[in-house]
Amino acid sequence: MTVQTFIPSAVKAASENTVTQPMHTADVSIKKLYIETQGCQMNEYDSHRMADLLGDSHGYVLTDNPNEADILLMNTCSIREKAQEKVFSGLGRWRKLKEQNPDLVIGVGGCVASQEGDNIQKRAPYVDMVFGPQTLHRLPQMLDQHQAQVEKPKKEKIKLVDISFPDIEKFDFLPEPRVEGFKAFVSIMEGCSKYCSFCVVPYTRGEEVSRPLDDVLAEIAGLAEKGVREISLLGQNVNGYRGETFDGDICTFPELLRLVAEIPGIGRLRYTTSHPLEFSDDLIQCYRDLPQMVSHLHLPVQSGSNDVLQAMKRNHTIDVYIDKIAKLRKVRPDMHLSSDFIIGFPGETDAHFAETLQFIKDLDFDHSYSFVYSKRPGTPASELPDNTPEQVKKDRLAQVQQVIKQSSIDKTDAMLGKIERVLIEKVSDKDPNVLIGTADNTRLVTFIGDAAWIGRFAEIEITEIKTLNLVYGELLNLEPDVA
Ligand code: SAH
Ligand code: F3S
Repeated sequence: MTVQTFIPSAVKAASENTVTQPMHTADVSIKKLYIETQGCQMNEYDSHRMADLLGDSHGYVLTDNPNEADILLMNTCSIREKAQEKVFSGLGRWRKLKEQNPDLVIGVGGCVASQEGDNIQKRAPYVDMVFGPQTLHRLPQMLDQHQAQVEKPKKEKIKLVDISFPDIEKFDFLPEPRVEGFKAFVSIMEGCSKYCSFCVVPYTRGEEVSRPLDDVLAEIAGLAEKGVREISLLGQNVNGYRGETFDGDICTFPELLRLVAEIPGIGRLRYTTSHPLEFSDDLIQCYRDLPQMVSHLHLPVQSGSNDVLQAMKRNHTIDVYIDKIAKLRKVRPDMHLSSDFIIGFPGETDAHFAETLQFIKDLDFDHSYSFVYSKRPGTPASELPDNTPEQVKKDRLAQVQQVIKQSSIDKTDAMLGKIERVLIEKVSDKDPNVLIGTADNTRLVTFIGDAAWIGRFAEIEITEIKTLNLVYGELLNLEPDVA
């Protein structure tokens, strides 16, 4: 089981790669699959589905060693240029593996695949399959097609590229998620229709499409039966959720939250990501009514300047954001708030930047993410004149990151003496009497306890701050198992 790191959102993004971890013991006679995941939690979710899919259809098991794999899959991210560059450098390394083992199958999925299509194979001809975020469910067929043409001469081979957007068909073909541990991600919608002027997501993942309500509820009920206690609902813009009900009505995101909270076993609810514009009063009421909702919200704002927000086509002002947060903090005074910021957007002046810096201080954000603006081909912002020198942008970013870091440290320090609700997840590797869990605000909490309590929630009084992301505490109350 993995313990969630101190990363609340989709934006863990692009800064790091993860390798989808094997759940099975390795065995040399078994065919092995290695998946490298770049980018957001949606991609991580998709990578797990790919592993489930190829496990069920072809018996592949995951390995964390690319050198022993029979298939290498790269699930790519194109949110910023840096992320995109990683794809070809990573593929260059895989090419060497293929030279040693010509039977090795290489597949590229995710948003770069979606954007580049067969250009991927033009630049990297040793790539066998290219698939988009919405066609990953067709991987088993693609693999069969690939195997069927292995022996054929080169000119008879067809290129295996499928980056279409076949609505939400994907979910009808995915096997039930395998469960490990007490936390699970559930994708509730795909794509985004907001078209912020800087962002590639609407082009790479398509417009918003919601999964039908009953499918989402059935998946969560199944996970709860298998012991899952914390659900993170995933989508690029979850509060745009409009899931069809069995009688043809539409279920909104706040309605969905209320239904999920009724499922026995679900003791904690998170979601990522939402847009401020659709952060509705109904949603705020959920925070008042549903104890399962964590006191932690990641609500990207991108800038503290109205001029910049307008150029970004975010369609709201700073005051709208401030009002919504004030309402939210009224029903949840202990709310931890985090956000995403883009620094150095075309036309951002020193004065605009100063507004952003002040805004970050005023809103008292917890750990947030900030990035220098990256020009993405095909987006409206890529046409805007941009006269700010790169070094100025970098300096601004450093200032923002310093303020954000200090504010996260202050938030952790403020936990001292407070009582936190913790999901108990595992025993410490170092001491069998010490348990480790996560608080609402994603900090790791350790305390003395009994391994039999794993999977339950507890009230822990925080007695010592160890690091930015680790605190010690003492048990005050162990909740009965929520199932
Ligand atoms: N659906 C999410 C955003 C997903 S992208 C939302 O709006 O909430 C994750 C983050 O990457 C964004 O919030 C933004 O801060 C950053 N990002 C997106 N496009 C970018 C670009 N062109 N340059 C720099 N950062 C970008
Ligand atoms: Fe991108 Fe804006 Fe949607 S940042 S994911 S277009 S809300």
